[in-house]
Amino acid sequence: MASNFRPRRSVLYMPGSNERALEKAKGLAADALILDLEDAVSPDQKDIARAQVSAAVSGGGYGTRELVVRINDLDSPWGQEDLAAAIEVSPDAILVPKVSTASDIQIAEEMMTKADAPSSIKLWVMMETPLAMLNAKEIAAEAARLGGRLSCFVMGTNDLAKETGASLGGNREGMLAWLSLSVAAAKAYGIDVIDGVYNDFRDEAGFRFETEQGARLGMDGKTLIHPGQIDIANDVFSPAQEQIEWARKIIAAFENPENAGKGVITVEGRMVELLHAEMAKRTVAIADAITALQS
Ligand code: COA
Ligand code: MG
Repeated sequence: MASNFRPRRSVLYMPGSNERALEKAKGLAADALILDLEDAVSPDQKDIARAQVSAAVSGGGYGTRELVVRINDLDSPWGQEDLAAAIEVSPDAILVPKVSTASDIQIAEEMMTKADAPSSIKLWVMMETPLAMLNAKEIAAEAARLGGRLSCFVMGTNDLAKETGASLGGNREGMLAWLSLSVAAAKAYGIDVIDGVYNDFRDEAGFRFETEQGARLGMDGKTLIHPGQIDIANDVFSPAQEQIEWARKIIAAFENPENAGKGVITVEGRMVELLHAEMAKRTVAIADAITALQS
């Protein structure tokens, strides 16, 4: 986990039909980009969006940013063509929407295997249907299958609100059970989970509040809809300087020969267990990965 950690603090969507956004993204500080062919693209723009996204991915220029293509539902008139086109240009991941069951993942994986998709192309999944919430464990367990590509959940909170009638307002109390359930399912199988978008993109305070809430719930990052949201997401999901220093102290304390073989020690008056040393190592790994991204 530590060495191949990939920061996914800020994951910015952009409509595949918006050529200006696709170009602009090359200079934005987002950790990952989702080039969308689905909800942000109207039916009459599907073909042009697919062509532009393919050109953008194969043209490159996105540096270390992770490139993810969100295809249309495989049952829709565009899904299969989207998948074939995406495989052709080898993005870092293909994001499949409207997944409800483990067999939906298996179908996508089989199509990728049939199309000779290299193993470097991962599968990301939108968690956005009521059934997906009820099947979260089985869906996440696909990550543990031999040769499984599944590596990330993306919360589709707008669709969840639409399908269930639950509200995104207040403190998102209508969503909390599903957000936490998805975190548990993802973490049980070692995959990442990215929080849903905040629609009111000019409201910075509201956005920061919700982003911090997601971080407290165990999310690995936040999906974004506007460049103005990137800095806050990067900030919220980066370990704070004091946290990194504390982590280094814990690691050093356990490495001290005096403490060899001990499971619990005292550091600056606080009880610290071996599990805290593991958490500290993760914090330092995240911080190092973020520093590496920036250099
Ligand atoms: N990705 C990259 N660039 C973006 C962007 C995005 N998601 N959203 C806006 N920009 C760019 C604009 O092109 C503009 O660039 P310019 O100054 O060089 O012309 C700049 O950022 C400022 O944009 P702004 O005028 O504030 O916003 P807008 O009115 O053009 O667009 C939205 C507002 C919501 C339509 C747009 O942000 C958007 O399409 N977001 C993504 C929606 C999406 O993908 N949804 C699917 C998942 S929920
Ligand atoms: Mg959706």
